[in-house]
Amino acid sequence: MSTPSVIESEPGPFDPDVLADPWDYYRRLREQAPVHRDAHTGIYFISSYRAVSEAARDWETFSNRFGVALNSGGADREPSNTPDAEAQRHPPVDTMLTADPPEQRRFRKLVNKAFTVRRVEGLSERVHGIAHALIDGFVADDKVDLLARFAQPLPLTVIAEQLGAPHEDLHLFRRWTDGFLLQLSGTADEAGRREAQRLISEFQEYFERRLEERRAAPRDDILSDIVHATVEDERSLSVAEMLSILQQLLVAGNETTASAITEGVWLLIRNPDQLELARRDPTLLPNLVEEVLRVATPTANMWRVCKRDCKLEGVEIPAGALCMLRFAAADRDPAVFPDPDRFDITRENAGEHLAFGLGIHFCLGAALARKEMLTAFETLLERLEGFSFDDTAPAPRHRPNVLLWGFDSLPIRFRARNEARRTA
Ligand code: HEM
Repeated sequence: MSTPSVIESEPGPFDPDVLADPWDYYRRLREQAPVHRDAHTGIYFISSYRAVSEAARDWETFSNRFGVALNSGGADREPSNTPDAEAQRHPPVDTMLTADPPEQRRFRKLVNKAFTVRRVEGLSERVHGIAHALIDGFVADDKVDLLARFAQPLPLTVIAEQLGAPHEDLHLFRRWTDGFLLQLSGTADEAGRREAQRLISEFQEYFERRLEERRAAPRDDILSDIVHATVEDERSLSVAEMLSILQQLLVAGNETTASAITEGVWLLIRNPDQLELARRDPTLLPNLVEEVLRVATPTANMWRVCKRDCKLEGVEIPAGALCMLRFAAADRDPAVFPDPDRFDITRENAGEHLAFGLGIHFCLGAALARKEMLTAFETLLERLEGFSFDDTAPAPRHRPNVLLWGFDSLPIRFRARNEARRTA
């Protein structure tokens, strides 16, 4: 299949304007070349729902060991988020997200039990408690940056508690998440990359100490599970492997869920009819969560590396090619979601989105993320009303990032609701 010229003449896919507002670009990719070799980078973009699903399921052809390809020039041009292994205290190793079976299964088994639906249900009360405490912190004002004061600290506090970290260390978690994000952004300059490495080394040093503590005195927490786990029947995990797992829990869990909550509130303010509907009928809230995930798809893109020559949607992809699964483009594919740009919390098949991926790498934290999002929307609607954008603050912008989609802030105005009844 020849590549349509309209795509070739576009600005590059990692051009800041495209990263800031990718929807029209996604639409044209999907319509004109759902599997497309990008001339700027040599990367194969996979954009339609059908093609993304097929590639995500076929892990024997599309490998998650993309670190190797990113480092060794598997594509004509390396994106600038290539991990700078040398500068880190422990160089990155492949565990869950960046591994293939059988290793991926072994590592995943170690942490699976911490994130099952049942275990997450057990956290319900605590997640509600954290959400209410965060709202208590700003409810007396009539405006707030919802990202910084609510959407970020909610998942951050939950995961920090799950990892057994004391509350006074929460600000460190935020700093390290920023470091990982900077590395992931694909847009950091030399100084930014060095800063990212410094923060990642700081994170590694902190957790090396915590893991040693658990080795000496185990507790009932994920760190103790990891430190006492064995893989390949006998072998204990190396420090680098343990750190890689912890890093994935921190980054995969925090920024994505924070973005999902923020995007949800932004969508509700932009669609007052849907906000009204959600307020009138709270049984719609679980479907609201799914529709937000579909429309916003925080993990917009993810890497794969093609392990053997193959054909996808009639396009030949050679072994060694770097590929990008465009989950966000797939989630607005009109072949599956009619009128796909419309935010409709009653959409019947909203839950068919690919925001958590598909197949063996399906998001480990999906149940937790859903719980946190649902709790966030429930508590915000219960405690606040009269939502609007705060036009005295700078307008929110999407952070330039080749993989993740999310705002840099969400300044809103609101009125407190039912506070007298709550405190009575
Ligand atoms: C709204 C929030 C979230 C979104 C949109 C999201 C999205 C995703 C996606 C798309 C994948 C699959 C990547 C691939 O196919 O290569 C994934 C995997 C993963 N997610 Fe999430 N995630 C979210 C929340 C979480 C949370 C809360 C955690 C844990 C605390 C988490 C941990 C992971 C891990 C460890 C993997 C890798 C699993 C594997 O490769 O076996 N995620 N996530």
